[in-house]
Amino acid sequence: MPATPRPLLVLALASALALTACSAAEPDPPTAGPTAPADARLRDAAPEGLLVGAAVAGGGHHVDADYPDPFPNDEPYRELLASEFSSLTPENQLKWEFVHPERDRYEFGAADAIVAFAEEHGQAVRGHTLLWHSQNPDWLTEGEFSDAELRDILHEHISTVVGRYAGRIAEWDVANEIFDDSGALRSENLWILRLGEGIVADAFRWAHEADPDARLFLNDYGMESGGPKADAYLALVKELLAEGVPVGGVGFQGHLAFEYSAPGGMADNLRRFVDLGLAVAVTEADVRMPVDGTPTNAQLTQQAEWFGELLEGCLDAGHCTSFTLWGAPDRYSWVPVFFPSQGAATPWWDDLSRKPAYDTLWGILDAR
Ligand code: G3I
Repeated sequence: MPATPRPLLVLALASALALTACSAAEPDPPTAGPTAPADARLRDAAPEGLLVGAAVAGGGHHVDADYPDPFPNDEPYRELLASEFSSLTPENQLKWEFVHPERDRYEFGAADAIVAFAEEHGQAVRGHTLLWHSQNPDWLTEGEFSDAELRDILHEHISTVVGRYAGRIAEWDVANEIFDDSGALRSENLWILRLGEGIVADAFRWAHEADPDARLFLNDYGMESGGPKADAYLALVKELLAEGVPVGGVGFQGHLAFEYSAPGGMADNLRRFVDLGLAVAVTEADVRMPVDGTPTNAQLTQQAEWFGELLEGCLDAGHCTSFTLWGAPDRYSWVPVFFPSQGAATPWWDDLSRKPAYDTLWGILDAR
């Protein structure tokens, strides 16, 4: 369905309304471009083959926040998740420290609830994550395990968690953030440090044994436009594929920040992976900006453009299976917790009204 043209006055009004969550009026011109109709939904506008997703807020930085656990308690938020998205990623609820808090105890309640919600609303689920350097429980990081024991622990974890959701979780981020920006394997990754690079291949094999139908991903940030980290992944996936390791895709997280540059050249970069037969995905999109009160219209316009570039970069690569936003609305975003002077990183204001970034994403999806 083509975008509905709107008179300039309506555009200006819509833009002003979107800013009601903000205090100061800005003199900048309103964002140009199509405005999504009120009944527009991202999941309905998406072209066939592309899932549009969101991280499901919970755990992590939400634990100490001054609001109730979002997913179980915030009904308007649940409605947003159900209506706008065709894929959900538990933000923290499937990470080791949440799902495997003690060596002999798994805690599946939060993840089960998300998977059940997704099934109820005809949504896919992305599993995040199985082998990472962060958010591992103390019993694991501080335990005195032999290499053989560590290997068994990882194998058991992957078999148990992936096996539990076999046929219900479509994509798994098997290995997350294993390279640093220079393209070297991260020294703080417990698994690689202790068991060597080959453990990555084993993790994929074990995940595949537990659910042969799931598409298995490597996932990382800061490599949308190419560079040493993207090159390291390209070299790794070539090795893995040559060895018959069941890697199925590479996830480009898409955490953008105004202090860095727009994701130029993204389609060409991603196409290198697609040309190997892999899927690509944008797995954690957000666009943060310096905020001191209200974002300016110029900032909102730039944010909309960068979200759009992320989405188009993935779609233009040829085999983009999902585009996932890392949190919405702004108040549930991880950004201000990690970067105290930054925020406003999602396409929704705190009151769930839409920002220009929403219109841009919808317009791109609707035009495809
Ligand atoms: O573990 C400490 C705990 O000991 C302490 O008591 C508590 C006090 O607040 O903090 C705990 O750490 C929290 C951590 O989650 C573990 O639960 C941090 O404060 C909290 O900021 C952290 O947030 C999560 C973050 O991953 C951790 O790296 C965010 O909610 C989550 O959105 C974020 O998601 C990651 C993706 O998984 C991978 N890619 C980057 C993305 C953004 O960082």
